Amino acid sequence: MAGEWRLSRRRFLAAGGAALLGAAVTGSAGLAAAGPETVRLTDFWLFGRYADGGADPDFDETDLDPVRLPHCVTPLSWTGWQPSSWQDQWLYRKHFTVTPAMTAERVRARFDGVMTNATVSLNGRVVATHEGGYLPFEVELPEVVVGDNVLAVVVDGRWALDVPPNLPRTAGPSVIDFYQPAGIYRPATIGTVPRTRLADVFARPVDVLSPARSLHLTCELDTTVALGEPLQVTASVRQAGLELAQGATEVAPMPVGTKTVEFDVGGLGAVRLWDVEDPALCDVVVTVRSGPRVVDQRVVRTGFREARFTPDGFFLNGRRLKLFGLNRHQWYPFAGGALPDRVQRRDAEILRRELNCTMVRCSHYPQSSAFLDACDELGLLVWEEIPGWGRVGDDAWQRQNLKDVAGMVVRDRNHPSIVVWGTRVNEAAGSTDLYLRTGRLARQLDPSRPTSGALATTTGARLALPPGTDEQVLAYNDYTARRGAPFQLRPPRAGVPYLVTESIGTLAGARAYRRTDAPATQHLQAELHAKAHDLAAADDRYCGLLAWCAFDYPSGWQRSVGGSKFPGVSDIFRIPKPAAAFYASQGDPLVRAVAEPGFAWDFTAQPTGPGPGATIWSNCDRLLLFLDDRPAGEARSRRADFPHLRYPPFAADLTVPRGRRPQLRIDGYVGERLVVSRRFSGDRSHDVLSCVPDDPGLRADGADATRVVIAATDRFGTLRAGTAGRVAVTLTGPGELVGDPTLDFGATGGAAAVWLRPFAGPPGTLVLTARHDTLGTATATVTTSAAAREATPRL
Ligand code: GAL
Repeated sequence: MAGEWRLSRRRFLAAGGAALLGAAVTGSAGLAAAGPETVRLTDFWLFGRYADGGADPDFDETDLDPVRLPHCVTPLSWTGWQPSSWQDQWLYRKHFTVTPAMTAERVRARFDGVMTNATVSLNGRVVATHEGGYLPFEVELPEVVVGDNVLAVVVDGRWALDVPPNLPRTAGPSVIDFYQPAGIYRPATIGTVPRTRLADVFARPVDVLSPARSLHLTCELDTTVALGEPLQVTASVRQAGLELAQGATEVAPMPVGTKTVEFDVGGLGAVRLWDVEDPALCDVVVTVRSGPRVVDQRVVRTGFREARFTPDGFFLNGRRLKLFGLNRHQWYPFAGGALPDRVQRRDAEILRRELNCTMVRCSHYPQSSAFLDACDELGLLVWEEIPGWGRVGDDAWQRQNLKDVAGMVVRDRNHPSIVVWGTRVNEAAGSTDLYLRTGRLARQLDPSRPTSGALATTTGARLALPPGTDEQVLAYNDYTARRGAPFQLRPPRAGVPYLVTESIGTLAGARAYRRTDAPATQHLQAELHAKAHDLAAADDRYCGLLAWCAFDYPSGWQRSVGGSKFPGVSDIFRIPKPAAAFYASQGDPLVRAVAEPGFAWDFTAQPTGPGPGATIWSNCDRLLLFLDDRPAGEARSRRADFPHLRYPPFAADLTVPRGRRPQLRIDGYVGERLVVSRRFSGDRSHDVLSCVPDDPGLRADGADATRVVIAATDRFGTLRAGTAGRVAVTLTGPGELVGDPTLDFGATGGAAAVWLRPFAGPPGTLVLTARHDTLGTATATVTTSAAAREATPRL
C-alpha cells in the first residue's frame, strides 16, 4: 500500500504546520487583499472520518490529519482497490482568515469535484449541499466574519449516490465497471467577487465557414445590490495577441438578481480557424462597466470550427475527418482521481501526440477542466458525457440527470474541442422520454452541438433510436466481435450520422491485456485495434471509431482481474503496451517516424525469437532489418491485411537459431531518406534500470505533481517487459511520493510509475532513487520553483 505519500502529522508539525494552520490562507497564498482575488485551496486542510459535530466551529481537531488537495480519502495502490476503504462519510475542515476589506465584496468558494456528495458548512451552519462527483459547484459565503472562519465539508463517499444513484446501497460499487474513490479530488478555490459580477460567459461562434462569421455572446450578470445606473458590456476578441473585433451592449439598471444579456461580435473574417492540426484559439475579454468604472471582467477561450456529423461521415471545417480515437477513464494509481492539472493535461498529450488520436471520449462522466483545456490546445476532439453507467433510475435520479446535463454543458460549452454531448447514460436502455428531455436541454443551453448517447450491443440489436428520440448522432458500443470469431464491426446504420463509441476492450480477444501476458495475447490486442480502425476507415459512413480504451482502470466488475481491468492500450501508469505502438504508427512520419516492434526482442520466453510473422508497427515506406548489424532482409508490408489504414504495419521473419541473442536494428525509410533507426538488444546482461520524470521542474505549491516512470530497459532504452524483481523507491527533498515505496516488477511487467508532489514552500530539489534487486540504482531529479503559482479559475 502507499507508504510515504501522506504527510504525517509529526512531519507536518515539525515543518511548522501548526503556525500555518493558524494563519490559514492569509499571506502570499491567502486573501489578505481586498478586491477580486481567488486562491486555490491546496494546503492545510484537516481531514478524517466524519464524527458528530464535525462541522462545528469548536470541533476538537486533534484526531484530524493535515492534507493537501487534490485528495483521496484512502491510501491506494495501483491495483487491488478496496471500496470499503472509501465507503464512508469524511470530514474536511479549512480555516481561513477574512480581513475587513474583504467583507466589502462577496466571498465565494468553488469546488471543481467532490466524490460523491458534499455538505458544506461555514462556521457551523450548512451553506450548500451538492450531489454528484464530477461537476463543480460554487457556494456564496455571505456570513463570513472578520477573523478566523472554518469551512467544513462533509463528504459522503458511499455508493449509490451518483452512478447510478437509484441502486440500493447494498448493490455496491462492483455493479458498474469502474471504481470511484471519494475525496475532494479536484481543485477547490475561495475568493472575493464583486457585488455585481459576470457570473458566466458563453461565446458561441456562428457561421464559422463564412467570412461573415461572428461570435454570439450570452452573458449572465448577477448582482446583490440594486443598480441605479445602466451597465455597459463590451467584448474584445483576440487571437495571437491581436484584437480582431469588438462588440458591446448596454444593460438597463438592474434590481438584485440575475440577468442574461446577449449580443454579437461581427467582423471576424480574419480569424484563424481551430483545427486538429492547427488548434488556433481566441480569447474573448468581456468587461462590465458602470460609467468609467470597471465592475467586473472575465476572459473565456474559444475556437472557431465547424464540426458536422453527417450520414456520410464527420466533417471538420468542411473537410472529411475520420475520427480516430480512444475512450479515457480518469483514474490513476495511488491517488484515484486526485492528481493535479499538469497530470490531467499529460493524458491529453499522450492521446494526441503519442497515440495520434483525433478524438477522445470522456467515458463516462465530465472530466477535469485541465484535461479539456489541453484538448483545446492540442487539437484533440472530445465526446463528453453525463455521469452514469448502464441504468436509468427513478424520478429523483432523473432530476439529477437533468441537472448533470445542465452542469456539464454550462461548464464546458466554450471548449472548441468538444463536438458532441453525450446526454444519454452510457448503455442505458429505455426511458425515451428522459433522453428527449436531456437532449433538448443540452441543445437549448448550447445550440451549436449535436447530442447523442452510446447504445450497447444488447440494445443495439435493433440499433435504432427509440421512437420519438431526437438524438442526432447514432453512437454504438460495437462489441459484435466476441472471442474466437473473426473481428468485425456492425455495418453503419444508413441515413443517420453513425459513430462507433467503443470496441474491443476486454470483450474481443482476451480477458486482460497486460505486459505480463503472453506475447501472443499482447500482439492480439494490437491487431484487434488495428483491425477495428481499418474497418472503420473502409466505409465513409462511419464517422470514426473510439476504441476501448486508452488506459487500464480499477474495477470490480465482470472480467476484472484482482480489482482492475486491463483493456488499455497503455497501462494504468500510462506506459504503452504493444497496442499503443499501432496508434503511435498512425501519424505523419515526417513529424515522428515510428518503427516499433509488436514483440519483445527477448529470448527468455521465446528462445528462437518472435518467429516468422513478427509485426513491426511503422509509418515508414520501407523497413530494413539487421541482426548484429548484418543485413537481414526487408520487412514486408501488411497492406493486404489492413487495406484502409493510413500506415499498415510490416511483417518480418525474425526466427533466430536457438542459443543466439543478436542485436536487432530496424532502419525506416520514407522514400530514400532514412528517418528512423532503432536498436534492440537481445542480451539481458546489459539491461539497466531507468527512472525518467515527465517534467524537470514543478511549482512548489503543494498541488503540482509529475510522473516518474521506472523501468527495466535494454541498453538502448527499450522496456524489458519480462523483468521481475522488486524496486525500492525513496524520495529526498521537500515533497512527497505519491506511490508505493516498493514496486513489484513481476506484477507490473518490468515497469511502473510513481508521482512526485512538492510541498508548498521555498524552491528545492526532489531526488527520487529507485533500487532494483539486480539492475542497480537509478535516480530522477526534479527542481521546484516557488515563482509561478498556478492560475486560479475565476469565481
Ligand atoms: C462496455 C462499457 C464500458 C466497459 C466495457 C468493458 O459495455 O460501456 O464502460 O465496461 O463495456 O470492456
